[in-house]
Amino acid sequence: MSTYCTATVINHEEIIPGVWKMELAVPEIAKTARPGQFIQLYPPDERNLLARPISLSSISKESVTVVYRVVGQGTKQFSCLQVDDMVRVMGPLGNGFTLPDAGEQNVIVGGGLGIPPLLELAKRLHGNTVALLGYREDPFMEEEFQRLGLEVHIASQSGNYGFHGTVLDLLENLTLPAGQIFACGPRRMLQSVSMWAKGHDVPIQVSLEERMACGLGACLGCGVKIQKPGEQDWRYLRVCKEGPVFSGEEVVWNG
Ligand SMILES: Cc1cc2nc3c(=O)[nH]c(=O)nc-3n(C[C@H](O)[C@H](O)[C@H](O)COP(=O)(O)OP(=O)(O)OC[C@H]3O[C@@H](n4cnc5c(N)ncnc54)[C@H](O)[C@@H]3O)c2cc1C
Ligand code: FES
Repeated sequence: MSTYCTATVINHEEIIPGVWKMELAVPEIAKTARPGQFIQLYPPDERNLLARPISLSSISKESVTVVYRVVGQGTKQFSCLQVDDMVRVMGPLGNGFTLPDAGEQNVIVGGGLGIPPLLELAKRLHGNTVALLGYREDPFMEEEFQRLGLEVHIASQSGNYGFHGTVLDLLENLTLPAGQIFACGPRRMLQSVSMWAKGHDVPIQVSLEERMACGLGACLGCGVKIQKPGEQDWRYLRVCKEGPVFSGEEVVWNG
């Protein structure tokens, strides 16, 4: 059940240039939110009619934390919010990750801004979990995964940190007994990791992004092509309603 309400900013910091972490006091949303869900945040300037979808990175009893990159008007306005400011928010939205049974060997694969949405999931996975985190350049939030006691591997395309290459190169270089993969990041990365998973017969859940308007399943603006097992053809499912998490095997990647 999602709620439209007002949240109060209780922490807000720029963690690397252009990337901000914001904690919002919003018990109405925090109490039902699950890892992999997102919220719609309304830019303070009401001339921006559309809210912006941002994934939940951490969830506590009374607050949620989001991590976002400033890319345009809306996120620029969020970055100007100060502690104690109020912001309109709707959520929690979408379906989150399906948690596996305890004792599974889980592999988390995150790329760039796809890494923060995997943090709350990492906290709730009970089996052995390995996190593969891929960055273009400077890493961020890797310590939060390490603090959970997970085995964390870092890849950077610049070669300045950890393994030199993409997170897919890293996945191919490690011998991991993967029971299940959970991935979030750019679409091309998700496609490659899904192909790898298919080739190794490993189930994979991917969190997709699409441009959104309503965020509620009404405008049909966020469709992705999905073909379920046993179905003759693909059909559109909504990222905001049936997603953002889908089985990587069911996504029609080249559609
Ligand atoms: C389910 C979901 C979760 C997301 N989680 C995060 C996150 O945790 N951190 C993060 O930094 N970004 C996330 N994004 C992307 C984020 O929503 C966009 O970067 C943001 O909306 C851009 O808004 P803007 O006004 O700054 O940019 P503009 O380019 O000015 O936006 C213009 C319009 O396009 C839409 N838009 C632009 N880019 C995207 C995009 N990639 N996806 C959807 N709509 C877009 C905006 O909603 C807005 O209506 C997520 C997107 C989705 C769909
Ligand atoms: S954004 Fe309107 S249906 Fe998904």
